[in-house]
Amino acid sequence: MEIINVDFDENNYNIYIDKGVISNITELLLKETKSKKVIIVADSFFKDSIVKQVSELLKEFEVHVHLMEAGKANKNMNEVLKIYAILEENDLARDSTLIAIGGGVIGDLAGFVASTWYRGMNLVHIPTTLMAMVDSSVGGKVAINFRQTINAIGNYYHPIFTLMDLDLITDLPNREYNSGIAEVIKCAIINDEDFFKDLQKKVQNILDKEEHEVKRFIAKSIKIKIAHVKGDIREGNKRLLLNYGHTLGHAIEISTVKNNQEQYRHGEGVSLGIMAVAYIAQKHLNLDASIYDAYQKLFKAYHLPTFVYASKLSFKREALVKKCLRNVLKDKKRIDNHLRVVLANQIGKASVYSDVPFSLIEEAFEHIIKE
Ligand SMILES: NC(=O)c1ccc[n+]([C@@H]2O[C@H](COP(=O)([O-])OP(=O)(O)OC[C@H]3O[C@@H](n4cnc5c(N)ncnc54)[C@H](O)[C@@H]3O)[C@@H](O)[C@H]2O)c1
Repeated sequence: MEIINVDFDENNYNIYIDKGVISNITELLLKETKSKKVIIVADSFFKDSIVKQVSELLKEFEVHVHLMEAGKANKNMNEVLKIYAILEENDLARDSTLIAIGGGVIGDLAGFVASTWYRGMNLVHIPTTLMAMVDSSVGGKVAINFRQTINAIGNYYHPIFTLMDLDLITDLPNREYNSGIAEVIKCAIINDEDFFKDLQKKVQNILDKEEHEVKRFIAKSIKIKIAHVKGDIREGNKRLLLNYGHTLGHAIEISTVKNNQEQYRHGEGVSLGIMAVAYIAQKHLNLDASIYDAYQKLFKAYHLPTFVYASKLSFKREALVKKCLRNVLKDKKRIDNHLRVVLANQIGKASVYSDVPFSLIEEAFEHIIKE
């Protein structure tokens, strides 16, 4: 088993990564908590599998269950209120534990509930998507959406431990798996050229989900994320680098939503966003075109998008470019009217730039969005 100790000063906890690691939950809960009351908040997809398994394992606990549908539309206050009601009706106090089982939507929402109930009850994450394992369950950001605003109401809150069960990766649909790989590639680009080379070399082993490789790249990505969050929980500067590709990618993600249906998974948006900022970096920092080409080749190898084809999504190209620009300006990472853009000046090294002209950002969208 791989154990990563997360040391965020006042929050020190372990992430356990292995096949079948969920079976350790009783022992760990008994070690870390006193109360025998738990609530499981889970993706209803796992009703007959992990939820059943965990409920059976926790025989000596009083177990309550709240099932919810995944999908960003459900990361809302209504769902939060339903969970508060269960907590109140069953007298779960702050020493009881909330176990979040699911992808980023469930982890973010359940984590938000745990962070606010009596100003903070125990939280355990069992992330079930690769995205949730390498990104959303690490770093403490918990939130729900409000009306049209994503992650509008949120907090910073850490679990008492996290269980990453590699059996879950085996069954994860390829599109979800590849979407998570985009965050892994991001970690390599901002921090570690050797890791990037490794991801180039091991494409087939990783696409085949070879256990040894999966465990290795998950652990590596988590360590990079922790290093950027430590000492900068509230996103002063170092943590901001983790947003590499996200500002523009997020704008593409939300601009292409049609009839409330997303066209791109979060990681696919990140892949497009990275290609857009790679274009900006090439122009703004006079980088060699081979860097852009290397990113493009790697994303393609992992079946991730590197261009948006507007007409395939039934958009007019020019209108979509304008919409992306409008959405990028709304991004909360701006300071006054300057957009802070993270650019990689070489593979493995990134910095924040506040002097990228808007015209170049528009040009980048024009480059990424094809007819
Ligand atoms: N807190 C953070 O730092 C952070 C970082 C990145 C993303 N996020 C948030 O994460 C959310 C996206 O997360 P997500 O991509 O995991 O989405 P998700 O939770 O909606 O899950 C995606 C889909 O995968 C299914 N699924 C989950 N686990 C599965 C498994 N093991 N096998 C088969 N299917 C499975 C779900 O039912 C769902 O249909 C967004 O709301 C985003 O804002 C948060």
